[in-house]
Amino acid sequence: MSTIVVLSGSPSATSRTAALAELLAARLRTDGHTARLIRVRDLPPVALLHADVTDPAIVEVAAAIEAADGVVVASPVYKSAYTGVLKALLDLLPQFALAGKTVLPVLTGGSPAHVLALDYALRPVLSSLGAHHVVPGWFVLDQHITVTDAGVVLDPVAEGPLLSVVDTFSRVLPVAA
Ligand SMILES: Cc1cc2nc3c(=O)[nH]c(=O)nc-3n(C[C@H](O)[C@H](O)[C@H](O)COP(=O)(O)O)c2cc1C
Repeated sequence: MSTIVVLSGSPSATSRTAALAELLAARLRTDGHTARLIRVRDLPPVALLHADVTDPAIVEVAAAIEAADGVVVASPVYKSAYTGVLKALLDLLPQFALAGKTVLPVLTGGSPAHVLALDYALRPVLSSLGAHHVVPGWFVLDQHITVTDAGVVLDPVAEGPLLSVVDTFSRVLPVAA
């Protein structure tokens, strides 16, 4: 099966996006994939702010993405787009870091008015990183995500379509030789 990196682009310590990303990683593991969650907020802030591509943690993340077959890019919507910290990491990756990978974009947001940030803000930057196979993604309203001690609970309105795009992503990933 495939190796997947799941990126969470929220700077929040109590992030709904990160909880959602962990749920997606768990679902992909049940399909037999290896899935690793990377929270951008756990990376060294100075390396992100100073664009230090030599920082060992950044080098390690870039290597993990290079080795991955698939990448899930999950971010909250901030100011009508993905977050600045996610962009700070993406800026440190090689120019075509997503070439040859299957990519699943996922956004969370507070307003349905910003659903199109997925296609108008996130998708172009994924394409610019060389991703030719970006599968349909999903936007989840924050009010549909409840984080509990036992894990994350999704409103059925969000759960069905989100899991559907994840399952499509899982199916189209390359099968390891
Ligand atoms: C600084 C900031 C800016 C935001 N801007 C938007 C926005 O433009 N559109 C929107 O729909 N939601 C916006 N939100 C709401 C978040 O996208 C939403 O609550 C998200 O699920 C938070 O995810 P997190 O808990 O992982 O950080 C904003 C939240 C913050 C903190």
